[in-house]
Parts: sequence; structure tokens; C-alpha cells
Amino acid sequence: GTCVIGLQWGDEAKGKLVDLLAPRFDLVVRYQGGANAGHTVVAGSETYKLHHIPSGILHADVQNLITPGVVINPATMIDEMKGLLARGIDIKRNLRVSERAHLVMPWHMIEDRLINAQKVRGESIGTTNRGIGPCYRDKVGRTHAIRLADLIEPHRDERIATVAQAKRELLLGLGASEEELEIIKPEMVQELAAQWGETLRPMIADTTDYLLDALEDGKQVLFEGAQGALLDIDHGTYPFVTSSNSSGVGVCAGAGVPPRWIQTVIGVCKAYSTRVGGGPFPTELTDDTGSKIRELGREYGTTTGRPRRCGWFDAVAVRYTARLSGVTQLSLMMMDVLSHFDELKICIAYDLDGQRITRLPSSAEDLRRCVPVYETLQGWNSPVDDATHVDDFPPAALAYVKRIE
Ligand code: IMP
Repeated sequence: GTCVIGLQWGDEAKGKLVDLLAPRFDLVVRYQGGANAGHTVVAGSETYKLHHIPSGILHADVQNLITPGVVINPATMIDEMKGLLARGIDIKRNLRVSERAHLVMPWHMIEDRLINAQKVRGESIGTTNRGIGPCYRDKVGRTHAIRLADLIEPHRDERIATVAQAKRELLLGLGASEEELEIIKPEMVQELAAQWGETLRPMIADTTDYLLDALEDGKQVLFEGAQGALLDIDHGTYPFVTSSNSSGVGVCAGAGVPPRWIQTVIGVCKAYSTRVGGGPFPTELTDDTGSKIRELGREYGTTTGRPRRCGWFDAVAVRYTARLSGVTQLSLMMMDVLSHFDELKICIAYDLDGQRITRLPSSAEDLRRCVPVYETLQGWNSPVDDATHVDDFPPAALAYVKRIE
């Protein structure tokens, strides 16, 4: 198997790479995250916005799996499916969704919004408000979780109604209004869940069994990561992270594959850095240079439309995530955006309280105090958009790539 992993804070253009690689694989697999992710894939004259469904879906010969570690918003996923169906894509044949996957229910969305307004350690996490954190919390908590399998079980009605009632009380306690809670009336949720179950039934499968069979049969599998390794719940810039293992270490647990099946790990990073939401970002540029990167790179969120924070390439952070993810190859994106600068900077160390360090501190407070130590490189000031071979790169652009390598 081959994995594509984001090495920064997400939005590294992984979707573009996955779309390029997908035709060489038999299976494309999503294994963590949910509708907080989003990518726009352009195929021919059509533009597709996908949040859950792997981008392999655009290739008729590729099977796509959504495995146990993903959290699914059924309504959003059904919308994506309808969009694909309307364009003649046969999702019933090419998409399998794990019955073990957990569902983002309407109450998770409300809870995310209410909690997101609060500050953690002086700053809001700035989540995507897609209910991701509350859903993963219920999954780990085990009592209020709803899995895809629950939608097609005979006893689903009773359980979903009980959970909906408990959630109403919880959300009222968090300050939700009765009005807001209209959409989670037990009878209403039950009815919705029944519809979701019917619509999704043809795609629901035991993806773990399917995936292990495929690997044992010698099939080529591409694992598609969502978000980036610096947002990993265990290894990222906690608590300013997402609620899943978004670094390379998450593949096995989320998809249900033993480590021995993973040979190639492609780490994807931008030639600069971006971050959306709260949390420390040592190389952030709040000046004109930052704005210039944002405009040239069209750095606005796919899912939320929020402007992304922009800054120089952080080699301390990326070296950490590349090692953590077991990267065997590096894919450097958005070089064209840097074609318009006289000088470029790469952060090669941090100054933390007068000490020079080359590791990423474990605490967000420490990271916030880190001052980047920069190396300055020459810009190339000429377009690289049409380069298809290393020799097409201006020497300064090549030197920039080499330095990162
Ligand atoms: P959540 O995943 O919605 O809980 O958001 C937690 C943090 O991860 C916030 O800082 C989000 O902005 C960030 N985040 C989540 N998904 C993405 C993504 O796909 N790209 C970039 N940032 C993301």
C-alpha cells in the first residue's frame, strides 16, 4: 500500500496528488476525519467538491472505501453521492462504506458550534463546525455513539431516540435554545435515520474484510489522508488539533490494516506554510508578504471559505512530521506561488527562551514562544507553472527544493 499524508496543518493539495495517482491503483481508501476535509477535483470540464468520498470515485476502475476510522455525516455524504450520480458516476458499484464507521449526528454539529465559541488556553480552536470533535468524543465514550451499522439494525429506532433525548438535555445545559433543538426531536431523528439507512444500504459493507482480501490478492491500495500531521490528535500541536490521527501513524488504526502492508508514504507539503483556525504558527506572516502568499495561492478554505493564515516554510515542523509519518517521498506543492518573491525564507530552527532547538515542542505554549531562525534563499522571479521536468526549473527554484529535501 501507498499513503498520501499531509505534513503541515492540512490543505497541502493532497487531493490533487491522489487524483493524479488514483488510476494506478485498484483501491482508494479514506481512513480518518470526516466532512471537515474538503477538496475540489477538476476532471475534464467538471468540478467536484468532495468531503467524504475518496477522489478515486472519478475513475470507473477504482474501488473506493470509507473505513472504520472515518466519521460520516450521512446527510452530507448522501448529497455528495447524489451529485456524483447525477453526473453518471456509478457509486453503488465503486463505493463501499464501513458499517463500523461512526456517524456525525445533528446534535454533534450543534455541540461543536457551542463549544467552538469557547476559548481553550486563551484562544478558540476554530474548528470547522462540522461536529467532528463531539462525534469522536462519543465514539471513545461509547455510550452515545451511533455507527452506520445502527441505521440498518432492527432496534435502531429505540436507541437513536434515547440518545437524542439525552443530547437535548446536554445541549440545553450548554446554552442551546429550544429553537435550535427542533431538528433533534427524537421522532424526527428516527425518521431521518431510517431514510439514511435505506439510501446508504447498498454501499454499506465490511470494508475491513474487503481491504484485507484485496491486499492478500496483491491489489494496489492508495490510502488518502485528510488534514495534516500537525493536526494529529496525539502528535500535533495539541489542543489546537483535529480529533483523529491525521499523521502517517493513523493509517493502520483507521483503515484496519497491519503495518506490514504499507511500503510507500508520500508526504505532501506546500513550499510555504498555511494554517486555518487557532493555535501556534511560528512562521506566520501577518504582513504584506503573508497577504501576497494568500492572494497568489488563493488560500481560502474549501470547506469553510475562511482565509488561511500564511507564512514561510517551517522545516522544523515538517522534518518532525516527515519522520513521524515514515515518509519515503516528498511532494512539494504550490512552487508557482513563490515565483513572485525576491527572497524566500526557510525556518531551520526555533529560538525558545534564548535556546536554539530543532525539535517541535510538545506544548502549545512553548511553541507559541518559539521565534523562527531563518535561512534566506534567493527567489527565482520567473514562472515555473509549465515545468514538467527538473531541468525546466530555474537554478534558484531547484536550490530551494534541494534545501528542503
Ligand atoms: P475540526 O477538525 O473541525 O475539529 O477542527 C480542528 C482544527 O483542525 C481547526 O483548526 C480546523 O481549522 C482544522 N482543520 C480541520 N480540518 C481541516 C482541513 O481539512 N484543512 C485544514 N484545517 C483543518
